Amino acid sequence: MDWTELENECGGCRKCRLWETRHNVVIGRGSRTAPVMFVGEGPGEQEDLTGQPFVGAAGQLLDKYLAASGISMDDVYIANIVKCRPPENRNPREDEEEACIDYLRAQVKLIRPKLIACLGKVAASKLMKPDYPIVREHGILIKKGAFSMIALFHPAAILRDPSKKEDMYYDMKKIREFLDDLKK
Ligand code: URA
Ligand code: SF4
Repeated sequence: MDWTELENECGGCRKCRLWETRHNVVIGRGSRTAPVMFVGEGPGEQEDLTGQPFVGAAGQLLDKYLAASGISMDDVYIANIVKCRPPENRNPREDEEEACIDYLRAQVKLIRPKLIACLGKVAASKLMKPDYPIVREHGILIKKGAFSMIALFHPAAILRDPSKKEDMYYDMKKIREFLDDLKK
């Protein structure tokens, strides 16, 4: 699948019930040759309205963390587990995640990132291990096949609980160091 096929398929997708309430399918943003791919859970209201991932309050915070840790947007691609907004921002259901995951797989194949960074428990539980213990195991880099993986708190969790700020900054710095090592 190439990018045009992916965009066309996603754009008209009705594989799960989330198509009924979406305004826009949210595929991703950033560099299509990025070494780091961030994966969130699903679009929120602003994302649904604009068609772009992580552009609301949580997304703005994410961009701040990237800038503060010296991670260039040229090195980053951002996507979600599900491409359509779950109503009232509820967590995506398992059948919705399963229906949508092939699009994310296609994105990973096209981008071939060196590191996949899961934002929050939902993404980490889908991509790393079930019921991922994010509080205990955020910031731990693991090798998984052709790429490395790491889980970070979701930026929305930082907005709710500012005591997680320092952990978030530390984990972002780990990603920055990973990028530095790639460029050595
Ligand atoms: N939260 C997510 O998980 N993804 C977005 O795109 C926006 C908010
Ligand atoms: Fe299709 Fe994914 Fe949207 Fe469901 S969430 S309708 S599977 S694009």
